Amino acid sequence: MRKTTIPTIVNKSLKKNANTPGFRKNTMKVICTEKSQILGTSLARALKTPVVEVKYSRFPDGEHYLITGELDDETIIVGSIVDNDALVQLLLIIDACDCSKNRLVLPYMGYSRQDKRFRQGEPVSARAIAQAVSKGVSEIMAVNIHEKEVLRYFGVPARSISLARDIGSYIKTLHLDNPLILAPDEGALVFARQVASAGGWDFDHLEKNRISGVEVTMAPKQLCAASRSVVIVDDIISTGGTIATASGMLYQQGAKDVFAVCVHGVLTGGAYVRLMSAGIRDVICSDTIERGCSKISAADTIAAELKRC
Ligand code: R5P
Repeated sequence: MRKTTIPTIVNKSLKKNANTPGFRKNTMKVICTEKSQILGTSLARALKTPVVEVKYSRFPDGEHYLITGELDDETIIVGSIVDNDALVQLLLIIDACDCSKNRLVLPYMGYSRQDKRFRQGEPVSARAIAQAVSKGVSEIMAVNIHEKEVLRYFGVPARSISLARDIGSYIKTLHLDNPLILAPDEGALVFARQVASAGGWDFDHLEKNRISGVEVTMAPKQLCAASRSVVIVDDIISTGGTIATASGMLYQQGAKDVFAVCVHGVLTGGAYVRLMSAGIRDVICSDTIERGCSKISAADTIAAELKRC
Protein backbone atom coordinates (compact mmCIF):
# COMPACT_ATOMS: atom_id res chain seq x y z
CA MET A 1 0.00 0.00 0.00
CA ARG A 2 1.49 3.32 -0.99
CA LYS A 3 1.63 6.20 1.40
CA THR A 4 -0.21 9.33 0.38
CA THR A 5 -1.05 12.59 2.11
CA ILE A 6 -4.63 12.50 0.85
CA PRO A 7 -7.27 13.37 3.45
CA THR A 8 -9.23 10.21 4.11
CA ILE A 9 -12.69 10.16 2.59
CA VAL A 10 -14.77 7.08 2.27
CA ASN A 11 -15.17 5.97 -1.30
CA LYS A 12 -18.82 5.08 -1.42
CA SER A 13 -18.56 4.22 -5.06
CA LEU A 14 -17.79 0.59 -4.33
CA LYS A 15 -20.01 -1.96 -5.97
CA LYS A 16 -23.68 -1.58 -5.27
CA ASN A 17 -26.61 -3.51 -6.54
CA ALA A 18 -30.36 -3.19 -6.52
CA ASN A 19 -30.53 -5.00 -3.16
CA THR A 20 -28.33 -2.47 -1.40
CA PRO A 21 -30.48 -0.46 1.08
CA GLY A 22 -31.13 3.05 -0.18
CA PHE A 23 -29.82 2.26 -3.65
CA ARG A 24 -31.63 4.33 -6.24
CA LYS A 25 -32.04 2.79 -9.65
CA ASN A 26 -31.57 4.63 -12.91
CA THR A 27 -29.88 7.66 -11.48
CA MET A 28 -27.20 9.54 -13.33
CA LYS A 29 -24.34 11.76 -12.23
CA VAL A 30 -21.66 13.78 -13.99
CA ILE A 31 -18.01 13.49 -13.05
CA CYS A 32 -15.23 15.53 -14.55
CA THR A 33 -11.47 15.81 -14.55
CA GLU A 34 -9.74 18.74 -12.87
CA LYS A 35 -9.20 20.62 -16.12
CA SER A 36 -12.81 20.18 -17.27
CA GLN A 37 -14.50 21.16 -14.03
CA ILE A 38 -16.24 24.29 -15.32
CA LEU A 39 -17.71 22.57 -18.36
CA GLY A 40 -18.47 19.46 -16.29
CA THR A 41 -20.42 21.48 -13.74
CA SER A 42 -22.26 23.47 -16.43
CA LEU A 43 -23.18 20.19 -18.10
CA ALA A 44 -24.49 18.75 -14.83
CA ARG A 45 -26.65 21.83 -14.39
CA ALA A 46 -27.92 21.63 -17.95
CA LEU A 47 -28.83 17.98 -17.34
CA LYS A 48 -30.26 18.83 -13.90
CA THR A 49 -28.17 16.05 -12.40
CA PRO A 50 -25.59 16.04 -9.58
CA VAL A 51 -21.90 16.43 -10.17
CA VAL A 52 -19.60 14.08 -8.24
CA GLU A 53 -16.85 15.62 -6.16
CA VAL A 54 -13.36 14.29 -6.78
CA LYS A 55 -10.35 14.82 -4.55
CA TYR A 56 -7.07 14.96 -6.40
CA SER A 57 -3.56 14.61 -5.11
CA ARG A 58 -0.20 13.14 -6.02
CA PHE A 59 2.08 10.56 -4.54
CA PRO A 60 5.54 11.79 -3.53
CA ASP A 61 6.96 10.56 -6.83
CA GLY A 62 4.48 12.68 -8.79
CA GLU A 63 2.02 9.94 -9.73
CA HIS A 64 -1.62 11.00 -9.74
CA TYR A 65 -4.10 9.90 -7.09
CA LEU A 66 -7.79 10.61 -6.90
CA ILE A 67 -10.84 9.48 -5.01
CA THR A 68 -14.41 10.08 -6.08
CA GLY A 69 -17.50 10.78 -4.06
CA GLU A 70 -20.61 8.64 -4.33
CA LEU A 71 -21.52 7.40 -7.77
CA ASP A 72 -24.80 6.06 -9.12
CA ASP A 73 -25.60 3.51 -11.74
CA GLU A 74 -24.99 5.79 -14.73
CA THR A 75 -22.14 8.25 -15.07
CA ILE A 76 -21.31 10.89 -17.64
CA ILE A 77 -17.53 11.32 -17.54
CA VAL A 78 -16.25 14.63 -18.90
CA GLY A 79 -12.55 15.08 -19.55
CA SER A 80 -10.67 17.11 -22.13
CA ILE A 81 -7.28 15.71 -23.00
CA VAL A 82 -5.49 19.04 -22.82
CA ASP A 83 -2.20 17.59 -21.62
CA ASN A 84 -0.67 14.37 -20.32
CA ASP A 85 -1.79 14.95 -16.72
CA ALA A 86 -5.38 15.42 -17.87
CA LEU A 87 -5.15 12.18 -19.83
CA VAL A 88 -3.94 10.24 -16.79
CA GLN A 89 -6.63 11.75 -14.56
CA LEU A 90 -9.23 10.80 -17.14
CA LEU A 91 -8.02 7.20 -17.27
CA LEU A 92 -8.07 7.02 -13.46
CA ILE A 93 -11.59 8.45 -13.29
CA ILE A 94 -12.86 5.96 -15.86
CA ASP A 95 -11.37 3.16 -13.78
CA ALA A 96 -12.80 4.55 -10.53
CA CYS A 97 -16.26 4.53 -12.16
CA ASP A 98 -16.17 0.82 -12.95
CA CYS A 99 -19.30 0.23 -10.86
CA SER A 100 -21.51 2.22 -13.25
CA LYS A 101 -22.52 2.39 -16.87
CA ASN A 102 -20.31 5.13 -18.28
CA ARG A 103 -20.60 7.48 -21.21
CA LEU A 104 -17.54 9.57 -22.00
CA VAL A 105 -17.63 13.16 -23.22
CA LEU A 106 -14.32 14.19 -24.75
CA PRO A 107 -14.66 17.95 -25.20
CA TYR A 108 -11.13 18.23 -26.62
CA MET A 109 -9.07 15.29 -27.71
CA GLY A 110 -5.39 16.05 -27.58
CA TYR A 111 -3.17 13.99 -29.90
CA SER A 112 -5.97 13.87 -32.48
CA ARG A 113 -3.86 15.77 -35.02
CA GLN A 114 -1.40 12.85 -35.23
CA ASP A 115 -4.13 10.80 -36.87
CA LYS A 116 -1.89 9.06 -39.41
CA ARG A 117 1.56 7.61 -39.63
CA PHE A 118 3.09 10.43 -41.62
CA ARG A 119 6.59 8.89 -41.47
CA GLN A 120 7.77 5.36 -40.91
CA GLY A 121 8.35 4.73 -37.22
CA GLU A 122 5.75 7.19 -35.94
CA PRO A 123 2.80 6.16 -33.78
CA VAL A 124 -0.78 6.85 -34.81
CA SER A 125 -1.16 8.81 -31.59
CA ALA A 126 -4.89 9.45 -32.03
CA ARG A 127 -5.46 5.69 -32.22
CA ALA A 128 -3.38 5.01 -29.10
CA ILE A 129 -5.33 7.58 -27.09
CA ALA A 130 -8.70 6.50 -28.51
CA GLN A 131 -8.10 2.89 -27.56
CA ALA A 132 -6.96 3.80 -24.05
CA VAL A 133 -10.03 5.89 -23.19
CA SER A 134 -12.47 3.38 -24.70
CA LYS A 135 -11.92 0.79 -21.99
CA GLY A 136 -14.60 1.10 -19.31
CA VAL A 137 -17.06 3.28 -21.25
CA SER A 138 -19.98 2.24 -23.43
CA GLU A 139 -19.94 5.20 -25.82
CA ILE A 140 -18.01 8.36 -26.56
CA MET A 141 -19.05 11.82 -27.63
CA ALA A 142 -16.34 14.16 -28.88
CA VAL A 143 -16.76 17.84 -29.70
CA ASN A 144 -15.51 19.01 -33.10
CA ILE A 145 -12.98 16.25 -33.37
CA HIS A 146 -10.18 17.37 -35.65
CA GLU A 147 -10.71 14.57 -38.19
CA LYS A 148 -13.88 12.46 -38.30
CA GLU A 149 -11.67 9.54 -39.37
CA VAL A 150 -10.35 9.39 -35.79
CA LEU A 151 -13.78 8.20 -34.59
CA ARG A 152 -13.12 4.75 -36.02
CA TYR A 153 -10.15 4.32 -33.68
CA PHE A 154 -12.33 4.15 -30.56
CA GLY A 155 -13.24 0.70 -29.32
CA VAL A 156 -16.89 1.69 -28.67
CA PRO A 157 -19.48 3.68 -30.66
CA ALA A 158 -18.19 7.26 -30.98
CA ARG A 159 -19.52 10.42 -32.57
CA SER A 160 -18.52 14.06 -32.88
CA ILE A 161 -20.86 16.97 -32.32
CA SER A 162 -20.27 20.51 -33.56
CA LEU A 163 -20.39 23.86 -31.80
CA ALA A 164 -20.84 25.72 -35.09
CA ARG A 165 -24.33 26.90 -34.06
CA ASP A 166 -23.12 28.01 -30.63
CA ILE A 167 -20.34 30.00 -32.27
CA GLY A 168 -22.85 31.52 -34.69
CA SER A 169 -25.09 32.50 -31.76
CA TYR A 170 -22.13 34.11 -30.00
CA ILE A 171 -21.18 36.10 -33.10
CA LYS A 172 -24.76 37.44 -33.20
CA THR A 173 -24.19 38.98 -29.78
CA LEU A 174 -21.31 41.04 -31.22
CA HIS A 175 -23.86 42.94 -33.38
CA LEU A 176 -21.42 43.20 -36.28
CA ASP A 177 -22.65 44.88 -39.43
CA ASN A 178 -22.67 42.36 -42.28
CA PRO A 179 -19.71 40.29 -41.04
CA LEU A 180 -17.66 38.03 -43.29
CA ILE A 181 -17.08 34.58 -41.78
CA LEU A 182 -13.76 33.28 -42.95
CA ALA A 183 -12.17 29.85 -42.72
CA PRO A 184 -8.35 29.91 -42.56
CA ASP A 185 -8.17 27.22 -45.23
CA GLU A 186 -10.44 25.28 -47.54
CA GLY A 187 -10.61 22.35 -45.10
CA ALA A 188 -12.44 24.53 -42.57
CA LEU A 189 -14.92 25.94 -45.11
CA VAL A 190 -17.77 23.60 -44.10
CA PHE A 191 -17.38 24.74 -40.50
CA ALA A 192 -17.39 28.42 -41.62
CA ARG A 193 -20.56 27.79 -43.66
CA GLN A 194 -22.28 26.22 -40.63
CA VAL A 195 -21.28 29.17 -38.42
CA ALA A 196 -22.40 31.69 -41.07
CA SER A 197 -25.81 30.03 -41.41
CA ALA A 198 -26.69 31.27 -37.89
CA GLY A 199 -26.99 34.81 -39.24
CA GLY A 200 -27.24 34.31 -43.00
CA TRP A 201 -23.80 35.90 -43.29
CA ASP A 202 -21.28 35.66 -46.13
CA PHE A 203 -18.58 33.06 -45.79
CA ASP A 204 -15.40 32.22 -47.63
CA HIS A 205 -11.97 30.74 -47.02
CA LEU A 206 -8.53 32.23 -47.13
CA GLU A 207 -6.30 31.29 -50.01
CA LYS A 208 -2.54 31.55 -50.08
CA ASN A 209 -0.97 33.08 -53.18
CA ARG A 210 2.76 32.69 -53.70
CA ILE A 211 4.19 35.98 -54.97
CA SER A 212 7.84 34.89 -54.98
CA GLY A 213 10.08 32.23 -53.47
CA VAL A 214 9.79 33.91 -50.08
CA GLU A 215 6.62 35.99 -50.28
CA VAL A 216 3.14 34.56 -49.74
CA THR A 217 -0.06 36.58 -49.47
CA MET A 218 -3.41 35.48 -48.07
CA ALA A 219 -6.82 36.79 -49.10
CA PRO A 220 -10.40 35.54 -49.16
CA LYS A 221 -10.78 33.31 -52.22
CA GLN A 222 -13.89 34.99 -53.64
CA LEU A 223 -15.01 37.89 -51.48
CA CYS A 224 -13.42 41.21 -50.55
CA ALA A 225 -12.58 42.00 -46.92
CA ALA A 226 -12.36 45.79 -47.42
CA SER A 227 -14.49 47.79 -44.95
CA ARG A 228 -15.90 44.62 -43.41
CA SER A 229 -15.76 43.00 -40.01
CA VAL A 230 -14.09 39.65 -40.56
CA VAL A 231 -14.52 36.71 -38.19
CA ILE A 232 -11.97 33.95 -38.73
CA VAL A 233 -13.36 30.65 -37.42
CA ASP A 234 -11.51 27.39 -36.93
CA ASP A 235 -11.74 24.22 -34.86
CA ILE A 236 -8.39 24.80 -33.13
CA ILE A 237 -6.18 27.80 -32.51
CA SER A 238 -2.84 26.35 -31.50
CA THR A 239 0.14 28.70 -31.96
CA GLY A 240 -2.12 31.31 -33.55
CA GLY A 241 0.42 31.61 -36.36
CA THR A 242 -2.03 31.07 -39.20
CA ILE A 243 -4.58 33.58 -37.94
CA ALA A 244 -2.00 36.20 -36.87
CA THR A 245 -0.49 36.21 -40.36
CA ALA A 246 -3.93 36.27 -41.98
CA SER A 247 -5.04 39.12 -39.77
CA GLY A 248 -2.15 41.38 -40.84
CA MET A 249 -2.99 40.76 -44.47
CA LEU A 250 -6.71 41.31 -44.01
CA TYR A 251 -6.05 44.69 -42.40
CA GLN A 252 -3.80 45.56 -45.36
CA GLN A 253 -6.76 44.69 -47.59
CA GLY A 254 -8.88 47.21 -45.69
CA ALA A 255 -10.74 45.00 -43.18
CA LYS A 256 -12.43 47.09 -40.49
CA ASP A 257 -12.01 44.55 -37.65
CA VAL A 258 -10.74 41.01 -37.41
CA PHE A 259 -12.00 38.59 -34.75
CA ALA A 260 -10.71 35.06 -34.11
CA VAL A 261 -13.16 32.45 -32.85
CA CYS A 262 -12.49 28.76 -32.34
CA VAL A 263 -13.86 25.72 -30.55
CA HIS A 264 -10.63 24.55 -28.93
CA GLY A 265 -8.36 27.30 -27.63
CA VAL A 266 -5.11 25.37 -27.35
CA LEU A 267 -3.30 28.74 -27.37
CA THR A 268 0.18 27.37 -26.96
CA GLY A 269 3.41 29.39 -26.79
CA GLY A 270 1.82 32.75 -26.04
CA ALA A 271 -0.71 32.49 -28.85
CA TYR A 272 -3.23 34.82 -27.21
CA VAL A 273 -0.70 37.65 -26.93
CA ARG A 274 0.52 36.96 -30.44
CA LEU A 275 -3.00 37.26 -31.83
CA MET A 276 -3.89 40.39 -29.89
CA SER A 277 -0.55 41.94 -30.92
CA ALA A 278 -1.43 41.18 -34.53
CA GLY A 279 -4.44 43.48 -34.15
CA ILE A 280 -7.14 40.84 -33.59
CA ARG A 281 -10.00 42.67 -31.93
CA ASP A 282 -10.90 39.70 -29.73
CA VAL A 283 -9.96 36.03 -29.40
CA ILE A 284 -12.87 33.85 -28.35
CA CYS A 285 -13.02 30.13 -27.70
CA SER A 286 -15.36 27.63 -26.09
CA ASP A 287 -14.92 25.90 -22.76
CA THR A 288 -13.84 22.58 -24.27
CA ILE A 289 -10.49 23.91 -23.08
CA GLU A 290 -11.06 26.17 -20.08
CA ARG A 291 -9.48 29.56 -20.71
CA GLY A 292 -10.00 33.15 -19.70
CA CYS A 293 -11.37 33.74 -23.20
CA SER A 294 -13.81 30.77 -23.04
CA LYS A 295 -16.93 32.83 -23.74
CA ILE A 296 -18.93 30.05 -25.41
CA SER A 297 -20.06 27.01 -23.44
CA ALA A 298 -20.43 23.59 -25.00
CA ALA A 299 -22.66 22.47 -22.11
CA ASP A 300 -26.11 22.98 -23.64
CA THR A 301 -25.22 21.35 -26.94
CA ILE A 302 -23.62 18.36 -25.20
CA ALA A 303 -26.62 18.06 -22.85
CA ALA A 304 -29.08 18.15 -25.74
CA GLU A 305 -27.18 15.43 -27.56
CA LEU A 306 -26.94 13.26 -24.43
CA LYS A 307 -30.69 13.59 -23.90
CA ARG A 308 -31.38 12.80 -27.54
CA CYS A 309 -29.47 9.48 -27.53
C1 R5P B 1 -5.43 22.65 -38.61
O1 R5P B 1 -5.76 21.75 -39.36
C2 R5P B 1 -6.33 23.22 -37.58
O2 R5P B 1 -7.65 23.24 -38.01
C3 R5P B 1 -5.88 24.61 -37.22
O3 R5P B 1 -6.02 25.43 -38.38
C4 R5P B 1 -4.48 24.64 -36.77
O4 R5P B 1 -4.29 23.72 -35.72
C5 R5P B 1 -4.10 26.03 -36.28
O5 R5P B 1 -2.76 26.03 -35.97
P1 R5P B 1 -2.02 27.35 -35.52
O6 R5P B 1 -2.90 28.07 -34.55
O7 R5P B 1 -0.75 26.84 -34.89
O8 R5P B 1 -1.75 28.17 -36.74
